[in-house]
Amino acid sequence: MQILAVHGGLDTSRERSFMDDLEAAVRKGFQMLATGRVPALEAVLNVLEDSPRFNCGFGSVLNLDGKVEMDAAIVDGPTHRFAAVAAIRAVANPVSVARKLLEETKQVILAGEGAVKFAREHGFPEADCTSRQQLEAWHKAKDSLARGKTPAQNLYTGLEYHGDTVGCLVWDGQGLTAASTTGGYSLKLPGRVGDTPSLGGGIYASRTSATVCTGLGEAFIETLTAKYVDEQIAAGAHPQEAVEAALRRLAGLKGAEGGIMALDARGRIGAAFNAGRFPVVVLVNGEVRKDFQPVNLRPELATTPAR
Ligand code: GLY
Repeated sequence: MQILAVHGGLDTSRERSFMDDLEAAVRKGFQMLATGRVPALEAVLNVLEDSPRFNCGFGSVLNLDGKVEMDAAIVDGPTHRFAAVAAIRAVANPVSVARKLLEETKQVILAGEGAVKFAREHGFPEADCTSRQQLEAWHKAKDSLARGKTPAQNLYTGLEYHGDTVGCLVWDGQGLTAASTTGGYSLKLPGRVGDTPSLGGGIYASRTSATVCTGLGEAFIETLTAKYVDEQIAAGAHPQEAVEAALRRLAGLKGAEGGIMALDARGRIGAAFNAGRFPVVVLVNGEVRKDFQPVNLRPELATTPAR
């Protein structure tokens, strides 16, 4: 069995165009699976980084200074390999830089200027990921702040709606692997790093399971939520039970909203959230699982089906 699962981030729209991008992304990953789990993950997330609809790559939110700073990570369960870039600027595809770090060095996290330097030295050209939509939203938010008002924009998206960190899980029949990529959250302090490159916080993979998270990064880091999901599955829980337990724990410990997706080595998947939206697409042996939907633990927050 081969499984690819992708999520488009907490509070990301479920409009057709967003779901189509997610489906196109997993199909691209499926085409790459013959070359390996990690190339498949990269292919999925590159599609989303190249789309302005998601909070990563060209759709990234802006920090307090109006700049894009992104985090991305890959973890491969069977080989225990992990690599991440943090607060990286001016590259189109941070997850590809993370893959390069994974495959060509023994170091696991590169941040800021060092990550940019590494990217340039390995052939990643300069790219301005600032979208017009995000820049307009940033000006509005700064204007609100200057008037002593709380910006109306969604924390994760910078916009009135749509998206946080995107993530992907792959089971190729031999091993589990996970990757995420993100612009972080709107108006974050320059240099702030979230849970995406925090192994055990917002991402994890082992021989048993693989997990990706979306939501307020600090809460996931402080509670080691992704590692908690792995422990629950290792102790016998179904991934669906594990992600729901992890979200309840996160809400109890930190009062935080989030979305979590996990896959185990038996090909069982779980996905849950406690906010407005959490779009997920699962591809099994090349077929989209139309019957799979993430469980909303706070259905009273759910927005209209599409948005
Ligand atoms: N989940 C995005 C972040 O907090 O960085």
